[in-house]
Amino acid sequence: MNEARTAIEAHWHEVAPPEVVDSARALYAWMPRQRSGALPFVDDPYDARREAHWADAARVADYAAALPVDGSRILDLGPGDGWPSLPLAAALPHTRILGIDPAPLRAEVCRRNGARLGIANAAFAVGDGMALPVRDASIDLVTAAASLEEVQDPEAAFAEIARVLRPGGILRASYQVWRLPVPRFETITLVAGVDSLVYTYAVRTQDPPRERRYVLVLPADGEAARLHAEALVASADARRAYGETLVDAASSLGVPLLERLAPLARRSLVVELRRWTTDWLVEALRAAGFSDVRATVHTGDLARLFARPLIARRDAEALSSHFEAITRALGEAAAQQPGESMVTAVR
Ligand SMILES: C[S@@+](CC[C@H](N)C(=O)[O-])C[C@H]1O[C@@H](n2cnc3c(N)ncnc32)[C@H](O)[C@@H]1O
Repeated sequence: MNEARTAIEAHWHEVAPPEVVDSARALYAWMPRQRSGALPFVDDPYDARREAHWADAARVADYAAALPVDGSRILDLGPGDGWPSLPLAAALPHTRILGIDPAPLRAEVCRRNGARLGIANAAFAVGDGMALPVRDASIDLVTAAASLEEVQDPEAAFAEIARVLRPGGILRASYQVWRLPVPRFETITLVAGVDSLVYTYAVRTQDPPRERRYVLVLPADGEAARLHAEALVASADARRAYGETLVDAASSLGVPLLERLAPLARRSLVVELRRWTTDWLVEALRAAGFSDVRATVHTGDLARLFARPLIARRDAEALSSHFEAITRALGEAAAQQPGESMVTAVR
């Protein structure tokens, strides 16, 4: 983790030497909700006037269509707050879905969401993609949404997924294609955690393909809360990328803010994650024992393209009664379209 540290990283190691952790402990163990508590279906009933709802419903239909005809056992890796496990369980009531996430808070939130939605065929357990608590060849479909790249050792997770899938079983996953607009960029985020406030700094590099994320866990009151709120206001005017605030060493939200927050921090953490391209992922899955590996377009993107003009023309609401049928058709069609961001691998 020493290679080419940025100025902000060098400062971080000086003023708040970080503990090296995995992504579950760095991020998902303290994040109160995923996607700001506005997950379509899980947090908000489907609404045809909202683009994200078309995208998510089509992705759920895509995952559902990936289940082998005679299959009923699904494992959802890294479900976060129950996505896609909960909408998938509702769409496929004859199946049994097990969601496995290493962050105990996530498994608990998934269980609470499942109970609130009255879903009885989805269960959630704490576990790691690199050592799945599941018998060999006992699963028909593994789903993973934006979770494979959170695992410290992706090849170990691919081997585990190959182990638990029965012959002919399917892995269907979405993933982030690592293609940065510049060779390196740095961002910060300021968010509320569980009983805490959080300041994170991330540096992403194209070569080597890596993301390092630093986290300061702060008290939710006093001077830390004042500085956090002040910085939040300042960050509203700054440029953004990937939904985060862009910074560099000269930014007031970088070194100067870090120096003021560091003495107040309860914990300082860092996680380093490997990133990948589609070619790398396809090869790694083949090497793990998958016979047929195909990268496809992102189903959500396709559904957004379809829904955007309808929503703009205020025509989407009139289609509400056809929302399920149309998103199903979109999901099934997208799964067949060669592209990037989603992958199907046959065991
Ligand atoms: C970006 S979130 C995606 C959550 C959800 N699938 C969604 O799409 O809303 C990544 C999830 O992967 C989980 N995760 C992190 N490390 C993991 C590991 N080693 N094995 C399985 N899941 C992991 C995180 O705890 C988190 O819930």
